[in-house]
Amino acid sequence: MGLPTVKSAELEDVEIGLLLTGIQQIYGYDFREYAAASIKRRLAHWLAESEFDTFSQAQSCLLRDPDTFLSLLQGITINVTEMFRDPAFFLALREQVVPFLKTYPFLKIWHAGCATGEEAYSMAILLNEEGLAGRYRLYATDIDEEVLQKAAEGVLPINVMQKFTQNYQKSGGTASFADYYTARYDHAILSASLKKNIVFSQHNLAVDAAFGEMHLILCRNVMIYFKPILKERCLSLFDHSLMPGGFLCLGLKEGMERKKWSERYEEMVPRTRIYRKCYATA
Ligand SMILES: C[S@@+](CC[C@H](N)C(=O)[O-])C[C@H]1O[C@@H](n2cnc3c(N)ncnc32)[C@H](O)[C@@H]1O
Repeated sequence: MGLPTVKSAELEDVEIGLLLTGIQQIYGYDFREYAAASIKRRLAHWLAESEFDTFSQAQSCLLRDPDTFLSLLQGITINVTEMFRDPAFFLALREQVVPFLKTYPFLKIWHAGCATGEEAYSMAILLNEEGLAGRYRLYATDIDEEVLQKAAEGVLPINVMQKFTQNYQKSGGTASFADYYTARYDHAILSASLKKNIVFSQHNLAVDAAFGEMHLILCRNVMIYFKPILKERCLSLFDHSLMPGGFLCLGLKEGMERKKWSERYEEMVPRTRIYRKCYATA
């Protein structure tokens, strides 16, 4: 009896499945619950740039050499971000959520999937302008250690600052954006005063545990790359981490559609994806 012939696309699916299982077992990064089309696209891009022709060829090196794996990790994670990304969201946060936040003596805020940190720095600016300086700690986490290092440096290319200034102005900023950085050659160095209340640390939403008693959690443009099962894991994690009456902010293309969540959370401001956890939740 002859062996069946397998189409190359099917073979590649098998290879990717084996590789992702191996990566999970060796490095603890579980990408099996990421949206298949998106992860395949990014893996294929990595493969095309690599010295290997197939994932089977690459597998041994990826599983045995952490540096090769890190290069793949860079290819898998999408780290695009901006300061005051979606300015209307930050405006709603400033006008509709901050009045509630001001009623607490001290705030704990979690930026899950913070990439290079622009969202956390934007939050620090917003809170300082709203008179909350010294009354908050921001926990900014990501799966990718390399972007976290960049985040902690707080140095941005100067050519993005014009766009970030416009975002800041549209988001209701009350000062001059230039007050928050020093231009040096082709870079902008963010003010040290913004960094001092931000803790950057590695956290993997697919496997790691909840953070305690947050007043506000932002996880924007991260779960869009996840399969529903992983998205549910994340929402449960945030639910456990959020105090009653706390706020959860998702990306503009993300939501809490399932009845389970819509019973526990109300969207504060329509179309902003700012949700508030009800007080009467078990
Ligand atoms: C597109 S960026 C979003 C950055 C920021 N939240 C924003 O909206 O501008 C997505 C980030 O999610 C991170 N990420 C992907 N999978 C993750 C996981 N399992 N746990 C934590 N972070 C993850 C990526 O490394 C990347 O930095």
